[in-house]
Amino acid sequence: MIHPSPAFGRELPRMLTPPPGARSSALAARLAAVESRNVTFLGPDFPVFWTEARGANVRDADGNVYLDLTGAFGVSVAGHAHPAIVEAIREQAGTLVHGMGDVHPPALKVELLEALAELAPWRECLGVLASSGSEAVEIALKTALLATDRPGIIAFEGSYHGLTPGALATTARDDFRGPFRRHLHDGVRFVPFPDVLEGEDASAGEALEAVRRAFREGEAAGRPVGAVIVEPIQGRGGVRVPPDDFLRELRNQVHAEGALLIFDEIFTGFGRTGQTFALEHEGVTPDLLCVGKALGGGLPLSACLGSRDVMDAWPISRGEALHTSTFLGHPLSCASALAFLRVLEKEKLVERARETGARIRRGLEEALSDEPRVRGIRGRGLFLGIVLGGDAPLPGAGADVAAAALQAGLILLAAGDQGHVVELSPPLTLTGPQAEAAVQGVARAVREGLDAWEA
Ligand SMILES: Cc1ncc(COP(=O)(O)O)c(C=O)c1O
Repeated sequence: MIHPSPAFGRELPRMLTPPPGARSSALAARLAAVESRNVTFLGPDFPVFWTEARGANVRDADGNVYLDLTGAFGVSVAGHAHPAIVEAIREQAGTLVHGMGDVHPPALKVELLEALAELAPWRECLGVLASSGSEAVEIALKTALLATDRPGIIAFEGSYHGLTPGALATTARDDFRGPFRRHLHDGVRFVPFPDVLEGEDASAGEALEAVRRAFREGEAAGRPVGAVIVEPIQGRGGVRVPPDDFLRELRNQVHAEGALLIFDEIFTGFGRTGQTFALEHEGVTPDLLCVGKALGGGLPLSACLGSRDVMDAWPISRGEALHTSTFLGHPLSCASALAFLRVLEKEKLVERARETGARIRRGLEEALSDEPRVRGIRGRGLFLGIVLGGDAPLPGAGADVAAAALQAGLILLAAGDQGHVVELSPPLTLTGPQAEAAVQGVARAVREGLDAWEA
């Protein structure tokens, strides 16, 4: 085993061998023999196998040190293995690892729900805990049906809400939906998501008009709409930020129709965009709020939160919860989440997202200002997307950029319905030198990746 240097977590990329090295390649061959072939993409340049991560650094099986600009799907808001979070998990593991979430609950469940209620935008907030983001979305959709008795749902083009059947019905990606279409709720209508940067998309007015139409169509089809679900900033759709006031007008319209507005802040929640929740950028309070990813401090945890009015659509439990799961309120996840929420506040991570995000954005705009194949950079805080393609999106170019970045020791992901966006969602704890290295390295990888795409 390689012993970490004390600087591990704050290091710049340090490559010992071109990735994937021999050990990662050997692991890929073993994996192919035991994992369903659909899960992990195994290609000549992908993947590298992680063995250790701290702060913004990841070490792979061959000893290469990377700068993680994804926060591992946006989870590691406080950095990988933050010492205070690791300590809380260790301590909890010594006393109670698993409990009986909805029967004889772990005491920590109370503390976590209280902490979430404190952060939520309603005077009285009630929640249901779960393990994955998809499950939080399922709970929100179930809540909306109970509260409105209307089965129709409006979701947005470009949306990603998860892959379990209820959530998948509201996820706008054809590749994910295609084979399972016959299992999906047929009362979901998709409307355009307005996006300032990609001019060919709908304006806010057109999107709101489409929402209005979708309400009428739902009514006519015998599927009146009870819920509208939206990401305040679309994440996997390519870090798409709606125009100012769009979310407010959407909320007004949804309420005028007597339906509920669900904000999916699974990606944007807990500081990533430079506010605790993205809803604060416009001061728009939804009826239901889905959170996940960062919440667990690295352990699986999610929640659907709502005001008492809405959440009381659920009947009082008489001994069987209508929605629960074996690991609901899992003590390790709750302890980790509580430690994460303390770190978020104590280390002023929300402010750091704003400052470091502005710095990286400025740096990238400058470094790529003469690159005609880049359309622009969008996002808020430390949630940024580099849009590839001058006049039209370059399909799949994001993956070429991610491949070039990996060789340079930067972990990146592609996003966007055409894979034409490079998504940045690093830990908010990124140091100054790491932010600088990210700007230089990403700008270089963008040029190299675009060259490879063209070749
Ligand atoms: C906005 C959003 N909602 C829901 C999900 C699904 O979360 P999970 O993968 O934990 O089920 C994701 C995952 O990327 C997401 O970005």
